[in-house]
Amino acid sequence: MDNNTLINRDLSVLWHPCTQMKDHEWLPLIPIKRGYGVWLEDFEGHRYLDAISSWWVNLFGHTNPRITGRINEQLNTLEHVILAGFSHEPAIALAEQLVDITPSGLSRCFFADNGSSAVEVAMKMSFHYWRNRGKKDKSRFVTLANSYHGETLGALAIGDVALYKETYQPLLMEVITAPSPDCYLREDGESCAEVAQRAIEEMENILAAQADSICAVIVEPLVQCAGAMRMYDPLYLKLLRQACDHYGVHLIADEIAVGFGRTGSLFACEQADISPDFMCLSKGLTSGYLPLSATLTRDEIYQAFYDEYENLTAFLHSHSFTGNPLGCSAALATLDIFRTDDVIGANRKLARKMARCTESLKDHPHVAEVRQTGMILAIELVQDKTRRTPYPWQERRGLRVYQHGLENGVLLRPLGNVVYFMPPYVISEEEIELMARVAIEGIEKATRG
Ligand SMILES: Cc1ncc(COP(=O)(O)O)c(C=O)c1O
Repeated sequence: MDNNTLINRDLSVLWHPCTQMKDHEWLPLIPIKRGYGVWLEDFEGHRYLDAISSWWVNLFGHTNPRITGRINEQLNTLEHVILAGFSHEPAIALAEQLVDITPSGLSRCFFADNGSSAVEVAMKMSFHYWRNRGKKDKSRFVTLANSYHGETLGALAIGDVALYKETYQPLLMEVITAPSPDCYLREDGESCAEVAQRAIEEMENILAAQADSICAVIVEPLVQCAGAMRMYDPLYLKLLRQACDHYGVHLIADEIAVGFGRTGSLFACEQADISPDFMCLSKGLTSGYLPLSATLTRDEIYQAFYDEYENLTAFLHSHSFTGNPLGCSAALATLDIFRTDDVIGANRKLARKMARCTESLKDHPHVAEVRQTGMILAIELVQDKTRRTPYPWQERRGLRVYQHGLENGVLLRPLGNVVYFMPPYVISEEEIELMARVAIEGIEKATRG
């Protein structure tokens, strides 16, 4: 088997996600034969360092023996069983452990099989909770500008990235959009905490005026990942928790991308010392092995659904693969690694190394900002540094960095003109040096002329 044969077969039958397929007339598709550690290898022996953890899912490297072993054991016992009316040990153990490690008060775990579905579960539960409590006017959601929560219609509606959303607008429910506390938007001399303060004032105005019709506010704690890795101060989450409590509105923390250590703590909410009413988890939950997601919530919310059947208050939501035992085993192996190894401590060192390796970019004439939260580092490319004028999107500068990366053995996948690193935690210091060197060369090339 060689790359070209597979590319031809692929392009005659597959339709790839988030891709203008015509690009593949000139942009090579890369069939991967195997993965190990941070590396992906194609059919001609070319290696690519997976600097984006394969869409932010991989935590402990590809084909990690500890996770593979656990899934193999489970595979010989039970591959899948319906989770309505039936149960299994991996789902029970995983729910117990998630309740244990997530912020206090989250005591119930509802499984689904991807991030968007976890968000939809939280939205439906919040809306349904208020109905069950007799508050039938509460039917709207508040989101932050530049947020992203997935692609299914409900999750897309509650996000705010125009590129993914605009075309489908006629299909989407209306949401209320509050300003983002994004620190890139700071004015001269303003701190990230001050931006957060400014943004929360607007949020409070919305809640003060409309709380009677609002179910919940949804946020991506600390980093708006798909929104070009924009970052904000934990103070915002603290103030938002207070505002939601004050106005009687739920807080949904979408930690699908930032959970499991990405931001420097196990969950990003910990940095603000808050507990949400709903927490959505996926991606790193299984170390990127299998599709699984979880929505955690409080007992008080669970109790609002707990009633005689005839009262029709039950949460009748399901997915065929809800709580799949193989996914749960991968998640249990993932949590074992967090328990036995000092992952967060080791990541601190790796995060410092990423910062050191990109320090020189701060003075680059086309780099507006190098920002970092834990194991996520992002480099914002601009046409004009002083005015922060973005490059016209049509120029696809980020794509040039992507191409340079592939030619030099690093999988970088810039979001527009933002180049970022979100590598698996098993990356070595030498591999960080390589990743940064190739990214810097790519940035040089992409910003020339
Ligand atoms: C914050 C956030 N929420 C939800 C999702 C959607 O998850 P999935 O792609 O598994 O549906 C993503 C995916 O990138 C995400 O980053």
